[in-house]
Amino acid sequence: MNRFSSRVNRMGFSQTFVMSNKVREMKAKGIDVISLTLGEPDFDVPDMIKKAAFDAIIENYSHYSPVPGFLELREAVAYKLKRDNNLSYQPTQICVSNGAKQSILNVLCSIINEGDEVILPAPYWVSYDEMVKMLGGVPVYVETSIDTDFKITAEQLEKAINHKTKALLYSSPCNPSGSYYTRAELQSLANVIVQHPNITVISDEIYEFTNYDGEHCSMAEFPEVYEQTAVINGMSKAFAMTGWRIGYSACPEWLAKACEKIQGQMTSGANTMAQRASITALKTDPKEFAYMIDEFKKRRDLVFNLLKEVPGFKVNYPKSAFYFFPDVSYYFGKTMDGKTIENADDFAMLLLDKAHVGTVGGVSFGNANCIRFSYATSEKDLIEAMRRIKEYLSSVY
Ligand SMILES: Cc1ncc(COP(=O)(O)O)c(C=O)c1O
Repeated sequence: MNRFSSRVNRMGFSQTFVMSNKVREMKAKGIDVISLTLGEPDFDVPDMIKKAAFDAIIENYSHYSPVPGFLELREAVAYKLKRDNNLSYQPTQICVSNGAKQSILNVLCSIINEGDEVILPAPYWVSYDEMVKMLGGVPVYVETSIDTDFKITAEQLEKAINHKTKALLYSSPCNPSGSYYTRAELQSLANVIVQHPNITVISDEIYEFTNYDGEHCSMAEFPEVYEQTAVINGMSKAFAMTGWRIGYSACPEWLAKACEKIQGQMTSGANTMAQRASITALKTDPKEFAYMIDEFKKRRDLVFNLLKEVPGFKVNYPKSAFYFFPDVSYYFGKTMDGKTIENADDFAMLLLDKAHVGTVGGVSFGNANCIRFSYATSEKDLIEAMRRIKEYLSSVY
């Protein structure tokens, strides 16, 4: 008897968590594994943010907050959006949630009916696909490759749109590819979107600060599509606050109200202490946190150079986020240690078993040719991980 809802049956487990659990099991058996599976900064939360959380406890911020978040926090989000993105939002357009993940789900829940189509430029963040399916929507994948730096064109977007299209959902900077859309590229996509007023663009900008070129652009900056855009951002990546679970959406007011309605029935709102601390984080000059970006950039360059020595990897130069997404299709069809490699997931599993380096295969990111690994870990581990991969692959090929 299948006791599950069709909703759950439609969904898959997060491949990222599958691989990180496997790493954990191997470590528990005493195997020395280096995990590059999870995308979270390895820094501690900066002290002034921690202090603000302590203060919130002492000041008894222990009751329910307003469903969309404390007004002061929504004002701080509006301040940040003006300061960093030149975007004008009122606090009534902002909804603070338990992480950007919930912010995205709130928006999707607000607009997607059974059978509605959501365009996902591939590769995409693993949860987009599953969230759309969970809601009975239909993901429409727009393929890219390493040769186009994993970005879609306006022509591809236009071709993917039909009367069922409800949303375009992407991250820029992108997890997993590390690419970001330039202002000119986004303008060309905006030119298409504005022709289709029923489409909402969900612009996930959670990696905004880890843009090493410093050229972040938001779809909402184009006035002609501002009313069609939901900006998603949060505290996890910029302030190393993954466990504090604070994200937010900034939307046209009708959509912000819908997110609030959904959130009011699902979670009642986000953790109050973390909300208070987020006010401090957002109001502090981003220069205070630049040391993390500088470090990621150093590691990006280090790994990029080490990857040149790995046989069979085709690598783009990721200009943002903290991931590499090498194309490993060179190995497909080859038999290594008795296993024939059919796709990137097989290859990631082999690297884990034989080289003891945890990565994630690209299938659940919508690209079966690539593997993703995060460089949000120490230089020492990165050097050792690259050494192991190179040594293993050189020994079999
Ligand atoms: C592209 C992207 N969006 C959203 C999230 C979720 O962030 P949060 O921790 O705020 O839920 C992640 C986390 O990995 C991500 O990579």
